[in-house]
Amino acid sequence: MAGVFSSWVLASPFAHAGDASAGSDVFKSECAECHSVKEGRNKKGPSLFGIVGRAAGTAPDYAYSDALKQAHWNWTADKLHWYLSQPAKQANPGTKMKYDGLSDSKQLEDLITYLSTVH
Ligand code: HEC
Repeated sequence: MAGVFSSWVLASPFAHAGDASAGSDVFKSECAECHSVKEGRNKKGPSLFGIVGRAAGTAPDYAYSDALKQAHWNWTADKLHWYLSQPAKQANPGTKMKYDGLSDSKQLEDLITYLSTVH
């Protein structure tokens, strides 16, 4: 029975179960140089408060590149996964985010779980 249960959990579309507290550490080491999660606090990059579910290029009072302003997508968990797993300039040519991507998929999952708690 236990085996049946765990394979169901792994196959479940709701198993976006990263570790938010590990993700907060990933954020500090990979993103905090340029981003804050405080509402309205823009640094080199825009505030990431409420980023999961937000439309791209819409943080108030932040001067986005044309490339990101013209990115007509919503930041879902899957979209963030796609964007952050590769160099930003490859995902969004012309962006001013200088980031080479996070190749460790466990860290990436934890990070996105953490970001989805910041609302
Ligand atoms: C060296 C600085 C830098 C680092 C490091 C960095 N970013 Fe960025 N980020 C930016 C800049 C600058 C922008 C704005 C890009 C533009 O306008 O083209 C941005 C934009 C974004 C956006 C789009 C926001 C929106 O409002 O549409 C997301 C999401 C994002 N970054 C997430 C992250 C995450 C998560 C990390 C860590 C894994 C990270 N960034 C690391 C500078 C950085």
